[in-house]
Amino acid sequence: MKDIVSFIQQTFHTKEFIPLHEPRFLGNEKNYLNECIDSTYVSSVGKYVDTFEKEFAQKVGSKYAIATVNGTAALHIALLVAGVTKEDEVITQPLSFIATCNAIAYTQAQPIFLDVDKNTLGLSAQALEKFLHTHCECINEQCINKTTNKRIKACVPMHTFGHPCEIDTIKQLCDAWHITLIEDAAESLGSYYKKQHTGTFGTLGAFSFNGNKIITSGGGGVIVTNDEVLAQKAKHLTTTAKIAHAYEYVHDEIGYNYRLPNINAALLVAQLEQLEAFLKSKRELSRIYDNFFAAYAKIEFIKEPTHAQSNYWLQAIQFETKEQRDAFLEFSNTNQVMTRPIWRLLNELEMFRHCQKDDLTNAQYLEQRVVNIPSSVRV
Ligand SMILES: Cc1ncc(COP(=O)(O)O)c(C=O)c1O
Repeated sequence: MKDIVSFIQQTFHTKEFIPLHEPRFLGNEKNYLNECIDSTYVSSVGKYVDTFEKEFAQKVGSKYAIATVNGTAALHIALLVAGVTKEDEVITQPLSFIATCNAIAYTQAQPIFLDVDKNTLGLSAQALEKFLHTHCECINEQCINKTTNKRIKACVPMHTFGHPCEIDTIKQLCDAWHITLIEDAAESLGSYYKKQHTGTFGTLGAFSFNGNKIITSGGGGVIVTNDEVLAQKAKHLTTTAKIAHAYEYVHDEIGYNYRLPNINAALLVAQLEQLEAFLKSKRELSRIYDNFFAAYAKIEFIKEPTHAQSNYWLQAIQFETKEQRDAFLEFSNTNQVMTRPIWRLLNELEMFRHCQKDDLTNAQYLEQRVVNIPSSVRV
């Protein structure tokens, strides 16, 4: 254990505290921020929001991008424009950050938790197929859950730590069962599945630019889609559903104040310029960790799945037992190397305990064994 901590300190060239993930502001951030402040356009209108949306859409290969205050807001609006209502159910994975499930809960729809895949850490296509065949039927082009008699309107898989899940098979299943696919791509900017960017397989995708993400604006998010109507609706809902007018304030439905401020977008434009360099650094770090952990029979370094190119946002290792994992967490954190266990399963939290689920065998296995280790871009 001591050797692992020493190796991480050596890799990051310090014996001081090593955080799990720090942002890096190495480019035009201060120039663009100054320009933004001088322009006085610091709020929800401004050229940086427009520039960012255009450049982000181009980067991921999507027709439209709508910038939001954070990734949770992006997911919430994606679910709303997809037509998810309080009468519906939404399939997702239990092994995720709380925001995935909170966004579903904001629509008052019920989550259904299905198992994850051991290789990708994301929603298992096999588990999805099994659940649909066992519990659902298609009636009038709607997927009906035979247990609850409710419509399953959407499916929200998540690309864990930037590792793409089996998104093409998941998409095929969703299409066949008339379920709208919405990707939680919060962690996977710069990750590709079969050369297509994550977040662009579904009808809608959501990304996050929280302080711990691969690029950040402090807080921020974006929705991507190829559907013009959904894009317009998303922009409308995130800007308080205000009807465009030179001076009148008229709103045609209950909207949200979810638009990304221009000042945050200024940071993001600068960050996006550095994405390729960040990705290169993370891939290099993954190689360093992979080589190091190859000597440990009882620890597995988690690598990108087959057919995928991961952004390696958060590097992760897997222990054989929970006891080994706990000992490592304690030792590393005591010695100023920040490490963190993967999330507690969402279905076990008080708010979601009542929700339908499958056996969740893999999710339970991984929950006890996976740990994130320092992953910042090295300078
Ligand atoms: C999987 C996942 N979904 C959603 C979010 C929500 O993003 P935000 O924190 O920007 O609201 C995050 C990150 O924070 C995340 O990791």
